[in-house]
Amino acid sequence: MSFTIAPGITWVGKKDWELKKFHGEEYSTHRGSSYNSYLVRDEKTVLIDTVWAPFAEEFVNGLAKEIDLDTIDFIVASHAESDHSGAMPLLMKALPGKPVYCTANAVKSLKGHYHQDWNFQVVKTGDRLSLGDKELIFVEAPMLHWPDSMFCYLTGEQILFSNDAFGHHLASEHMFNDLVDRAELYQECIKYYANILTPFSKQVASKIQEFVGLDLPVKMICQSHGLIWRDDPLQIVNQYVAWANDYQENQITIIYDTMWDSTRKMAETIGEGLRVHDQNVTVKLFNVARRDHNDIITEVFKSKAILVGSPTINRGILAPVAAILEEIKGLGFKGKKAAAFGSYGWSGESVKLISARLAEAGFALVDEGLRTQWHPDSQALESCSHFGTLFAEQCPFPAPPTT
Ligand code: FEO
Repeated sequence: MSFTIAPGITWVGKKDWELKKFHGEEYSTHRGSSYNSYLVRDEKTVLIDTVWAPFAEEFVNGLAKEIDLDTIDFIVASHAESDHSGAMPLLMKALPGKPVYCTANAVKSLKGHYHQDWNFQVVKTGDRLSLGDKELIFVEAPMLHWPDSMFCYLTGEQILFSNDAFGHHLASEHMFNDLVDRAELYQECIKYYANILTPFSKQVASKIQEFVGLDLPVKMICQSHGLIWRDDPLQIVNQYVAWANDYQENQITIIYDTMWDSTRKMAETIGEGLRVHDQNVTVKLFNVARRDHNDIITEVFKSKAILVGSPTINRGILAPVAAILEEIKGLGFKGKKAAAFGSYGWSGESVKLISARLAEAGFALVDEGLRTQWHPDSQALESCSHFGTLFAEQCPFPAPPTT
């Protein structure tokens, strides 16, 4: 399928209603996704990005119905990750020798993926490609979210093609942001930012500042996943500015795993204790073994503080807790507080181990953590509640400035 976005601009991508996991098994996509590809027709015709490899044949066949492939003059490869470049090998067989505009880093990564020597035309920020009446202006966007990432801006229609930035994994019969459930859209956008862009927040903030400095009016943002930002497109840019600035809400998230319910009882009682200090704080509990990791990461992103609990097993911690701590460390959250808790029978190392991993992940530990031996009795539960209350006291909102 294809549809017109603006005069001379056609969406020629692929909606993936069935996608449940992205990046292998790494990212859950509860609402599917889309791989957006755009055809821009002026005196010259350019194709911006392609789709994921499993849909390559469908994509190229659909494109051939939309346009005589020989009349495509240029291809823009904004990013080499397979979900956007996967159809290039098949497409380039049909378009031998056609120029592929991309960054110098994209040449390396496209060659690394496909081992092909296409007619690469390296562009840098500020380079322009004339299409006739309109021009494409290229803007390198390294680490949003790969070194090769790039935006391009179409003069005349004033469209920013931002590749992954401002995207979300959401398949929809409607492809414009003003036609869908805004709560669903917001949820997918924040999940995408939290799980993919958090480590690059500095680059996000400075790239947005740089783009604003170019003084290019934006009527629409056409990114590479999900819905086109047609209504108030700068709303997502402003939201990114907020998210990139060590974002937090008045929320404390409790993440735990449990064997015989002792650590679960601790988690629930600590949660009640938090609200003794602050009736307004949002408290969310997740058994990490039973809930979606990417949804939990999204809640960590929103939180001013987290509490992480595991019983001790074999002098260590339960594997699901270890796994999410590894994900949290990789994302490099800033300005958040934390503490650990857990039950034990004899050796009782879990709290120290979790505390060390939280500190290593950049969280400010506000307490040495709470251990409970065997199944918590009423006195132990009283300690858990008190621990929660003290923790909440030490995590005010808004957080005081860190510098
Ligand atoms: Fe949508 Fe970085 O690929």
